[in-house]
Amino acid sequence: MRLDRFLSGQTTLSRKEAQAAIRRGEVTVNGTVQRKPDCSVDPDEDHISLGGKPIEYQKFHYFLMHKPAGVLTACSDRKQQTVLDLLAEEHRFPGLFPSGRLDIDTTGFLLITDDGALSHKMLAPRSHVAKYYIATLRDPIESYYAAAFAEGITLETHGEPEPCLPADFAPVSEKVALLALHEGKYHQVKRMFAALGNHVEQLSRVQIGALPLPAHLQPGQYMVISEAEVQQMLCETPFSEVSTYYQQFFRHNG
Ligand code: URA
Repeated sequence: MRLDRFLSGQTTLSRKEAQAAIRRGEVTVNGTVQRKPDCSVDPDEDHISLGGKPIEYQKFHYFLMHKPAGVLTACSDRKQQTVLDLLAEEHRFPGLFPSGRLDIDTTGFLLITDDGALSHKMLAPRSHVAKYYIATLRDPIESYYAAAFAEGITLETHGEPEPCLPADFAPVSEKVALLALHEGKYHQVKRMFAALGNHVEQLSRVQIGALPLPAHLQPGQYMVISEAEVQQMLCETPFSEVSTYYQQFFRHNG
């Protein structure tokens, strides 16, 4: 890989800024100043420093954000603030995107990454990775909801039936429900509850796979996650374990 490309991928420098820094002699490769931007480096083998600071090579970046309400799940927007705008300057690596979409008023677990393959794996229905939502409803939960979700709710799109995959449902309180989906259709949770005659008043994604949104992460905050945590997102957890956890959590925290 070219040295300037390595630098712009691993730091917030643009390709042009990286080239300028290299020409100014600010970059060393294995301890020797390298002034040629097109010099070839091996990110796995070579030790590269910028301004005397070693650069830890990371092929991909993974940020777990607690998405706040009122922020758009998009890379950029002319009018509205996006989730990428919430990243600190030093984390705005090229190629980052939000993996999956949360509505503007939905809060919770959002992965921001530049790893397209991982994102695809996480979102593709055949990977079966569960996304867990807590929905606060307008009307009390009815006893038939769990069976309806388990059977697969049929939505309507432009007058055509759009069947959903079976989903796991558990009541958390009279009007609060936990739902696990294995796919991501447009406004899916809201439309599923609407199909049952109810209405979602608040929605939050609380977990993906076996990785819960950490309780300490406030809306608008995010954290770098490790490779092990990334793998945890792809793991399965029995729904009964997850629902017991959230039922107890809400009993104690309201
Ligand atoms: N389902 C919805 O209705 N909205 C979201 O933001 C996510 C899932």
